Amino acid sequence: MFKQAYWNEPVIFQLGRKGRKGYIVPEVEEEIRQTVGNALADLPKEMLRQTLPELPELSEVEVVRHYMRLSQMNYGVDLGFYPLGSCTMKYNPKLNEFLANLSSLTALHPNQDESTVQGILEILYTLAKWLAEITGTHEVCLQPAAGAQGEFLGALIMRSHHKLNGNIQEKTELIVPDSAHGTNPASGTMAGFKIVVVPSNQEGCVDLEALKSAVSEHTAGLMLTNPNTLGVFEKDIEEIASVVHEAGGLLYYDGANLNAILGKVRPGDMGFDIVHINIHKTFGTPHGGGGPGAGPVGVSKELEKYLPVPRIAFDGKRYFLDYDKPRSIGKIRGFYGNVAVLLRAYAYILSLGAEGLEEAAEVSVLNANYLLKKLGSIRGFELPFAEGRPRKHECVFSLKKLYRETGVRALNFAKRLLDYGVHAPTTYFPQIVEEAFMIEPTESFEKEELDRFADIVRKISEEAYSQPETVLKAPQNTALSRLNEVKASHPKTMALSWRMHQEKSAGKHEQ
Ligand SMILES: Cc1ncc(COP(=O)(O)O)c(C=O)c1O
Repeated sequence: MFKQAYWNEPVIFQLGRKGRKGYIVPEVEEEIRQTVGNALADLPKEMLRQTLPELPELSEVEVVRHYMRLSQMNYGVDLGFYPLGSCTMKYNPKLNEFLANLSSLTALHPNQDESTVQGILEILYTLAKWLAEITGTHEVCLQPAAGAQGEFLGALIMRSHHKLNGNIQEKTELIVPDSAHGTNPASGTMAGFKIVVVPSNQEGCVDLEALKSAVSEHTAGLMLTNPNTLGVFEKDIEEIASVVHEAGGLLYYDGANLNAILGKVRPGDMGFDIVHINIHKTFGTPHGGGGPGAGPVGVSKELEKYLPVPRIAFDGKRYFLDYDKPRSIGKIRGFYGNVAVLLRAYAYILSLGAEGLEEAAEVSVLNANYLLKKLGSIRGFELPFAEGRPRKHECVFSLKKLYRETGVRALNFAKRLLDYGVHAPTTYFPQIVEEAFMIEPTESFEKEELDRFADIVRKISEEAYSQPETVLKAPQNTALSRLNEVKASHPKTMALSWRMHQEKSAGKHEQ
């Protein structure tokens, strides 16, 4: 059984002593001191700090031990199995980290003159071309910092398109399936559209008849994830595309699940006009705590004019930033996007090549279907929708039966997995599945690891039927046991900075 370390670790500001130093550097020579002094003298007085920032003062060993202890109370994909459905936690090859951390790349500043950053511009230009090839789109913009921001950009592009066609007054509705990720309706609403939800059918796909009745002259577009969040491929995708296109709407592809179809089929070929790619899911870049990420957006030739500026362009001799795009929606994020993440994606694609990417998709689908079979026979587990059809990269079980028979919910089951040293899967999403338990093994894990996981799940199911209280009070073996879910994420109780913590302790934020 797994047992996580627990350290009663203070906040770093509570450690150390005034005057303590991390390392010793030689005295600065007089000449350098004067140069720095002269440079400081040139700074506008009103911009100079009046007081020094209150930073903790510690020795190097204190800092290292502090973070080492904290890391022992954490869990990551480098430590073990991480089946977080839809969030796609792949292993991130260390080679990619090494390349992205080369000082020749990290020391660059986005305000440098173009002539001095030809190398990074070439990398980003090439990456955008690869992503266009992979998605079957005409041009890709790397700027968006996450999938959700890509969705927002896509919805803004839809607006610009309908505006230029003179029918924005009419095109007010965005259709979203009921299995969609919450960011889809949120992004559409932020861009000013009214959201129309279409139900899924028993196959777990968009109900075609319901779609046909939802589509009207008001349809600005449809946002669709394919394979969808049940892991099922929308087999009627061509008909769906033509229904929406015939009504003058655009098709938006939520690329969160692109890892399932890499090299097999392309969103552009399925009829999608706008595509976002969750770089941090499909191309193995770190992805935790809501970021950092990147959500590049690819579009058809007709929509290319709306993409954000600056565009990274190449005139045959040099790479440059092209602002001369009068129909562009403007900027969606500063500079070229989240470059550190994009670099890792570049390294991932470069190291795998076209065949390797296809194989990654195949193995992720194989792994998901292997677990589908193994977990499908476990007591209390049911597979709603699309009975008998294989899944793509993920599978979603319902623990409704288990809950009814034992009182153990999907949430409790997920917490008990932590006691066995496995990260919890996604639960309660998609919302169309009662007591949803969503598994995405990715291509990163070996058969032995999948077998071990399936054995643990079987064991917990047995516990649920024989001694449910053990599951209900889990986790017991982690550094912290069950947190108060409301308090853990409520602005009144969270302290996100040292200053906030001090203010809260002094009762400043009491209501
Ligand atoms: C299906 C789907 N769409 C969109 C998103 C949003 O992506 P991001 O977290 O990068 O904003 C997610 C995130 O998990 C997702 O699973």
